[in-house]
Amino acid sequence: MDLFEYQARDLFEVGGVPVLPGRVASTPEQAVAAASQIGTPVVVVKAQVKTGGRGKAGGVKLARSPQEAGERAAEILGLDIRGHRVEQVMVAAGADIAEEYYFSLLLDRSTGGYLAMCSREGGVDIETLAVERPEALVRTPIDPLVGLDAAAAAQIVSAAGFDAADQQAIADVLVKLGRVYVDNDATLVEVNPLVKTGAGAIIALDGKITLDDNADFRHPEWRHYADSAGSDPLELRAKEKGLNYVKLDGTVGVIGNGAGLVMSTLDVVAAAGDALPGKPRPANFLDIGGGASASVMADGLEIILADPQVRVVLVNVFGGITACSEVAKGIRDALAMLGDKASKPIVVRLDGNAVEIGRHMLIEAALPLVELADTMDEAARRAAELAAD
Ligand SMILES: Nc1ncnc2c1ncn2[C@@H]1O[C@H](COP(=O)(O)OP(=O)(O)OP(=O)(O)O)[C@@H](O)[C@H]1O
Ligand SMILES: [Mg+2]
Repeated sequence: MDLFEYQARDLFEVGGVPVLPGRVASTPEQAVAAASQIGTPVVVVKAQVKTGGRGKAGGVKLARSPQEAGERAAEILGLDIRGHRVEQVMVAAGADIAEEYYFSLLLDRSTGGYLAMCSREGGVDIETLAVERPEALVRTPIDPLVGLDAAAAAQIVSAAGFDAADQQAIADVLVKLGRVYVDNDATLVEVNPLVKTGAGAIIALDGKITLDDNADFRHPEWRHYADSAGSDPLELRAKEKGLNYVKLDGTVGVIGNGAGLVMSTLDVVAAAGDALPGKPRPANFLDIGGGASASVMADGLEIILADPQVRVVLVNVFGGITACSEVAKGIRDALAMLGDKASKPIVVRLDGNAVEIGRHMLIEAALPLVELADTMDEAARRAAELAAD
């Protein structure tokens, strides 16, 4: 999960990383109040969106009075930055910038360790720098069992070629950023720019943090990040129920067990849809997992049927650990529970463990919405047909 800049700023502050005062605002009036509270002669109004290049898109602006901060906020709020609508801005104290640097620490899956990247030339588009002058971006592998300690930080700042007089101060900040990374179970901590002010202080002016979702079980405090994430409401609901659901923009709802099977199901639905009017496409990815019980099936169906775009649901289950009889029971119970909320046709393909019992249960239940198909291809074809214009 990616955090907004202001959330990263807050975690930096907790970890002792020097940051500037900053306050979030979602209206121009709040921005005026935030700027007065911050009280510096210059403030910066910054779009809070989870994408890069905000500055270039007009999402970062200076203001020289609280009134001006309100005007800049009015311009920035509602902007579309690379497909992200700006709902909030951060009003931050203006910094007297002497130099801009770059620093990031990330999970390097290829080595199974961390990788620190640092450059004297920050603030700019770091991807371009990495391609055009890779030697200006110093890469240092960090042993995750040791972490970014003082020795590693000293090595980084010296390799990046910082002035001797600045090295200690920058190294101290890097060690703190390393602790923020570990303490928050992050997979990325990026600061661009890390600045030196006219007075020689080192400050993190822009922060990006990605949290490792695999660690969310031990971070109950992450819940409020999800609330502010602005993600799809169905995805949020699915997450609350522990379902692996991704909203897509088609009309064929898909439920399967096992990520691989669900991915192939999306492919066969799209292929079947190609030949039909309106070219029906999958409406979602939903993997109900290996041990899918009746209640999980009910949760899954409920989420998919709540998507107004869905015209038909395709259930594609290969019974392994979960017997098809469990799945059939799940479909039957879910429909009973949902009552009138279930009004769309459901094409079911079952195979594997206890398939005969499962099919028999569904036939016997004589559910008017449910149709059985023998194979995955046949099921995909039928579902696409029912979703066609
Ligand atoms: N508090 C501040 N005071 C003075 N200048 C600032 C401040 N915050 C940002 N800037 C200037 O604006 C530039 C862009 O800001 P920032 O790095 O936050 O956004 P960005 O890089 O455009 O966004 P992203 O990192 O999402 O691509 C900085 O490089 C810096 O020169
Ligand atoms: Mg930046």
